Amino acid sequence: MALKYRRILLKLSGEALMGNHEFGLDPYFINELADDIREVYELGVEIAIVVGGGNIFRGMNGSQIGLDKATADYMGMLATVMNALALQDILESKGMPTRVMSAIEMKQIAEPYIRRKAIRHLEKGRIVIFGAGTGNPFFTTDTAGALRATEIKAQVFLKATKVNGIYDKDPVKHKDAKLIKEISFDEAIRKNIKVMDQTAFTLCKENNLPIIVFSIKERGNLKKIVQGENIGSIVK
Ligand code: GTP
Repeated sequence: MALKYRRILLKLSGEALMGNHEFGLDPYFINELADDIREVYELGVEIAIVVGGGNIFRGMNGSQIGLDKATADYMGMLATVMNALALQDILESKGMPTRVMSAIEMKQIAEPYIRRKAIRHLEKGRIVIFGAGTGNPFFTTDTAGALRATEIKAQVFLKATKVNGIYDKDPVKHKDAKLIKEISFDEAIRKNIKVMDQTAFTLCKENNLPIIVFSIKERGNLKKIVQGENIGSIVK
């Protein structure tokens, strides 16, 4: 089967790794996630992953307990590196070569992020996991995802969430929320539909990078997406 996307950026939130747990990592869920990633890897897709850290530390909560926002954000960035390392081990235990690259230098545990090197790793068939966000406070991991996707010339930004796409209102709170299968960047802005934060969204828009929002809870979605199936919602 022909591939629609040959190089992807997969954004996994910390919550996505948490599965049904309240905190930390859900081994059962990550295992299944790794199997999904392997299906795509075996098709020859070049995979870059940006992980969040909300399952370990949330920048926002840090602010609530009186930490400076920048400090809290740096702590959040460290949490994403922990997730990156965990994901690396699990993917490698399933036979996928990986490289973790950190936006904040910590050479003993991860390679520093170097754009050209990241691209080379992808070309050599390694899954590249980006940790530490953009390396700057005040930017979300969605923004890190949009930035890295653009830098490595990914063909699509895959935003894995708990819900199966973009709705006209929060589907958790509103029973009559409608799924939007396809929307343009301009229309999403006009209708004030929050796909991701403005910085991340604008980066995707300006670089013509389509965003697919899909459920990470349904197995096999990733494979279907790279093969061109109409899964989740697309912004383009
Ligand atoms: P090629 O040069 O394309 O062969 O890539 P490579 O990543 O296999 O080669 P390299 O010799 O750079 O890396 C070998 C191993 O060391 C890989 O697992 C890298 O992730 C790891 N590595 C490379 N640089 C660093 C670093 O600065 N810090 C850490 N912690 N690991 C590194």
